[in-house]
Amino acid sequence: MMGAMDWMKGRYSCRAYLDEIPERHRVLEAIEAASFAASSKNTQPWKLHIAIGEACDKVRASLLEAFDSGAPSGSEYKYSPDRLPDELMARARTCGFGLFQHKGIGREDKDARKAHDRENFRLFGAHGVAVLSLPVGSERGNFLDAGQFLSYFLLALREVGYESVPMFSVANYPQALRRNLSIPEDRIVVCAVTFGVPDLQAHVNEFRTVREPAESLVSWA
Ligand SMILES: Cc1cc2nc3c(=O)[nH]c(=O)nc-3n(C[C@H](O)[C@H](O)[C@H](O)COP(=O)(O)O)c2cc1C
Repeated sequence: MMGAMDWMKGRYSCRAYLDEIPERHRVLEAIEAASFAASSKNTQPWKLHIAIGEACDKVRASLLEAFDSGAPSGSEYKYSPDRLPDELMARARTCGFGLFQHKGIGREDKDARKAHDRENFRLFGAHGVAVLSLPVGSERGNFLDAGQFLSYFLLALREVGYESVPMFSVANYPQALRRNLSIPEDRIVVCAVTFGVPDLQAHVNEFRTVREPAESLVSWA
């Protein structure tokens, strides 16, 4: 019997999927569990705008069209400071280079790097995508709440048989998402989650990231 910590420790960003359409009732089951996430004063500011099957293919087509055309892109909020603290930047580099190395992409291979980036907009071949939104005017605390929900959703998806990857890259083309998912004007596109049945034979899905030791995250009084 898997416990909560097993689901947490087994989660990874899945970047290759089988050609199977996720079942709506199972996705809803995961959302129902995720809705138990904590939020300040129980405000539950989150919403998901979901496309599976053909609807997901339309999202993919719009994202690829935008990416391939080189159209200007930009998210609806700033994710992080222009210059990350050195410690964070070092981890981001380790993660990025690690994934490239795993895929056999050389540092100077611009074409392979672009193809890697393009995979994001192809939704890694997944047949499900969910866009997480918040009310316009949301502040940092609301984003904190949305993060709780996002984590719960990723874990709950695992229990109903799906893997996923949270994605900020696609939030850089909010219009492509808004158009296909009827996201109302009074909501901000926060990020997306691509999900589906994992391709467990795919080499890319063997990639794992490392974590700082628990003791190093803590200062005890
Ligand atoms: C909000 C958020 C946005 C992310 N955006 C992307 C993305 O656009 N593309 C991608 O391949 N991974 C994306 N990731 C996945 C991270 O790179 C990944 O979680 C991190 O490297 C740790 O690896 P793991 O998820 O396999 O444990 C995102 C993760 C989060 C939480």
